[in-house]
Parts: sequence; C-alpha cells; structure tokens
Amino acid sequence: MSLAVPADTARSPEAPAASRPAAALLEVHGLARHYGSTPVFDEVYLQVARGEVVALLGESGVGKSTLLNCIAGLDQADAGSITIAGHDVGRLGEHAAALLRRTKLGFVFQAFHVLPHLSVADNVALPLLLQGLRDRQEVEHRVRAMLEAVGLPGFGARQPRQLSGGQLQRVAIARALVHRPALILADEPTGNLDPATAARVLDLLVGQARALGAACLIVSHAHAATERADRSVWLTPHGIEALDAAALQRHFAPVTPGAAPTETSADT
Ligand SMILES: Nc1ncnc2c1ncn2[C@@H]1O[C@H](COP(=O)(O)OP(=O)(O)OP(=O)(O)O)[C@@H](O)[C@H]1O
Ligand SMILES: [Mg+2]
Repeated sequence: MSLAVPADTARSPEAPAASRPAAALLEVHGLARHYGSTPVFDEVYLQVARGEVVALLGESGVGKSTLLNCIAGLDQADAGSITIAGHDVGRLGEHAAALLRRTKLGFVFQAFHVLPHLSVADNVALPLLLQGLRDRQEVEHRVRAMLEAVGLPGFGARQPRQLSGGQLQRVAIARALVHRPALILADEPTGNLDPATAARVLDLLVGQARALGAACLIVSHAHAATERADRSVWLTPHGIEALDAAALQRHFAPVTPGAAPTETSADT
C-alpha cells in the first residue's frame, strides 16, 4: 500500500486543489446534498487523477452512495460542481452529459442493477452497444474476455436469475469495465464476495484503472480495498478527510473482547 498522505496526520482535510495532481480526471468541488431539510453532506472536495485509485470509506448512511450517484449524474447535488475530464457536468446539456457518462464512466452499483431479461453476455455488452460498437465479433470478443477476467468464463448464455449474488456482482463489474471507461466508480463492489473472489475482483478493478490510466473511486468497507488503493479518504457530513496509514490501522484493528471499542471493524 502506498499512501500519499503525511505519516503524522491521522485524519486531515482533503488537500486543497493546488497540492493535488494537476491532471485530475475527476474534480468534486464544494459538493452538498440534502433531502428536504435533512442534510446528507456538504463541503465535499475530492480529486482523483488519471490512473489513481482512491478508496472512499465512511459510516453507513453518511452519503457514500449518494456522492457516487451525484458524480455519475444519477442524483442532483444542491451545491458545488463536478468536473470529469475537464467538463463541468452541471453546465453540459442533457445530451452532452449523457454522452459523457456513456463514454467515460463505468459504474458498479451497490445493488448490481443487472437487467433480468437480458442474458449475462447481453448485460455485459450493453455499454459497447450504447457507444455504437456494431462489430459483432469485436463485441463478443470483449464480452468473453471480460467474463473470463471476472472469473465467469462460459456464463454468457445464462440468465441473471440463474446466478448467485456474488456472480451477479461480477457481471455488474464486467459491464462497468467492458468499454474501458476513463472513470470507474464502484459502490461496495466486493460486498457479496468471499475473500478470494473479492481479492480477484479488486485486482481486476485496480489493474484496469492502472492499465487504462483511468481514475477509480471505490466505496468499500474492506481492508483489501484500502490496501490496493493509492490513498483512502473518509466521508463525513462536513467534507472529506484523508486517512493515513495509522488511521487505517486503527480502523481495521481487530476488536478484542473486553477492550475499549476503536472504530467500526473491517468486513474482510
Ligand atoms: N431518496 C432519499 N430520500 C431521503 N433520504 C435518502 C434518500 N436516499 C438516501 N437517503 C438518506 O441519505 C443518507 C445517505 O444515504 P447513502 O445511501 O448515500 O449512504 P451510504 O453512505 O452509501 O450508506 P451505506 O454504507 O449503508 O451504503 C442516508 O441517511 C439515507 O437514509
Ligand atoms: Mg451505500
């Protein structure tokens, strides 16, 4: 694990833009979201560079999925801006924003959202077809390669209802990566997987991000995710803080019976 945060900092505010990498693919600037009069978060600043993998942690209900949904354009922030590959998505028209998402974004949803009436292969092929790739052989080749990469070779003809939860999650991951997106957003991508499969899926996500120079933001409670990430951050209702190695160690420290509780324990 390499953490690009000062060793003496337990949790510190996310560094200002000037000290973050210049070539950030994703820039979240002063984002706020509330539901009615109930605030979820505000003052969220985050930058993810091309080829960088960032693990996003935070207590349940703090707004991690909401933040990812805002970045993906599936939810509307109440203040702030989101820039992807230099485009302020709030200022793009509906059509241009949809095109940007279709071409640049791969999203692994917390609840999979695998389409039940399409075969596994057709689910994975969807982003390629939406991008207008018409070469059937190329589509089949890339779908097959992706299914192999997530450990589901030969599953293409199956229907989603014939898959386990963990297998569905891997289909969702294959679908998020097949069009080689510049920005990968993954919302608890290993939540339903056994440790060995989770490790393989994380290797795939991180490997893909690095190979393609994609920016990758992974929401996860898993230690394995923070170990593979370049850095880890913690979402609070009032912004994002950097987590250094010591803070991560405390976060994932095993809770010994009788000992005073530290923070939430790891799930892997
Ligand atoms: N449509 C909605 N209307 C009102 N409140 C909502 C809505 N969607 C989410 N919330 C609330 O917003 C907060 C953030 O939810 P979110 O799903 O983003 O949390 P999370 O950090 O992803 O949690 P978890 O770790 O459990 O997945 C929660 O308190 C949730 O109850
Ligand atoms: Mg969530």
